[in-house]
Amino acid sequence: MKKMFLAILVCLAGITGAHAYSAKGMVAYKKLCKQCHGSGFKGAAMLTSDGWEEMFASEAEKLKSAHEDYDEAMEVLRSPYFERRLDALGKFLRDNGSDMGVVRSCDGLNCG
Ligand code: HEC
Repeated sequence: MKKMFLAILVCLAGITGAHAYSAKGMVAYKKLCKQCHGSGFKGAAMLTSDGWEEMFASEAEKLKSAHEDYDEAMEVLRSPYFERRLDALGKFLRDNGSDMGVVRSCDGLNCG
């Protein structure tokens, strides 16, 4: 019985993970960055995937220094929610960077 339950869990995880982007990261983007940088895919296209990789290295050190003159942005970047969603957000942005050839509008789950 326990095995069955596990199997179902693994299945569900597979389905949720099947999207080409991190929905969790997208939600985090909407909550944290959209107010200043526009919709998700537009925001992600600010940088290339390598650029995002750099921005999110060492706990998003570079991203923080890019915002250090903007108190409102720093409040967001210092929030516990940002810390928790750092990886998912970084993945979403990398996967949709300007060099990834992503052109999306709405896909039934999210509008970008
Ligand atoms: C309160 C507004 C605000 C919020 C919130 C905010 N930013 Fe920014 N962001 C700015 C401003 C202002 C700049 C500086 C723009 C400039 O220098 O031209 C900036 C700069 C940047 C840059 C540098 C762009 C470049 O060309 O070097 C990146 C990348 C960036 N933001 C990503 C993000 C991400 C990701 C988030 C969410 C975690 C975020 N920002 C949240 C206002 C904000």
